[in-house]
Amino acid sequence: MKIMSGNSNLPLARAIAGYLELPLTDAAVRRFADEEIFVEIHENVRGEDVFVVQPTSYPVNDNLMELLICIDALRRASAKRITAVVPYFGYARQDRKPGPRTPISAKLVANLLTEAGADRVLSVDLHAGQIQGFFDIPTDNLFAAPVMAADIQARYGDQSLMVVSPDVGGVVRARALAKRLDNAPLSIVDKRRDKPGQSEVMNIIGDVKGRACILIDDIIDSGGTLCNAAQALMDEGAASVTAYITHGVLSGAAVSRVTNSALKELVITDSIMPTEAAKASDKIRILPIAPLLGEAIRRIADESSVSSLFD
Ligand code: R5P
Repeated sequence: MKIMSGNSNLPLARAIAGYLELPLTDAAVRRFADEEIFVEIHENVRGEDVFVVQPTSYPVNDNLMELLICIDALRRASAKRITAVVPYFGYARQDRKPGPRTPISAKLVANLLTEAGADRVLSVDLHAGQIQGFFDIPTDNLFAAPVMAADIQARYGDQSLMVVSPDVGGVVRARALAKRLDNAPLSIVDKRRDKPGQSEVMNIIGDVKGRACILIDDIIDSGGTLCNAAQALMDEGAASVTAYITHGVLSGAAVSRVTNSALKELVITDSIMPTEAAKASDKIRILPIAPLLGEAIRRIADESSVSSLFD
């Protein structure tokens, strides 16, 4: 087995390799003067089971292209099996046609990965579970929930918890977390969005008075959804609001929005390499997911059960 990395999240790739007690594959992923990507693998990968770690986060197009070119290089170097390890799967939010003459970019990216030569995909908290079905190759979708639940139990376990979904679309994810937290009660924020990047909270479903609210979502991008939800929960009498979000996209002014929000704390994973601003914020904490990914990779390589990781 070999672990290779693009440039999108080298610290995560190194941590995964460390978990597996393997060196990272010696490869160069560089740019020509005109920014074209050039990949050169400096060791033999013929017949190897290779895992390429590359979340397709900002700059998403560059990171996606790097991943495709790495896969192409591995295929042409006769790797036996190539797994695209995409902890954050960019373009996933366009997973259906919201209106006429719009794309389904999640499907397009699935096609691109397959066409480049990926034999399998490993991701974490895909925006929608059905994206697995956009691939006709085996696709494992890991959940950060067990890692989050352990952290919540350790830090907030003695409080009167309420798990909150920031929108109707996240209810399944929130319910799964609530189950792991001794069946904590569930509340839902009725969010209406007029245009991408802007959200408006309309209503809180459930009684959050006096509760330590745990907001859970897959993505924090502009921070609008989360900060509005946190404010609405506090206005309804919540004792505190803490957010657990798998993918810290944190675009534009998101970090300062979070810092100035009603949130007590935002906990993200390192599926996307955290920015310096995110690392410097005393409201943001980062949970490592290399052990989860490393264990899943070990099981895929050994052909043992991945789903039992979540029992
Ligand atoms: C939407 O369906 C996602 O689950 C997130 O709620 C959304 O992407 C967050 O975006 P923002 O932080 O820009 O409100």
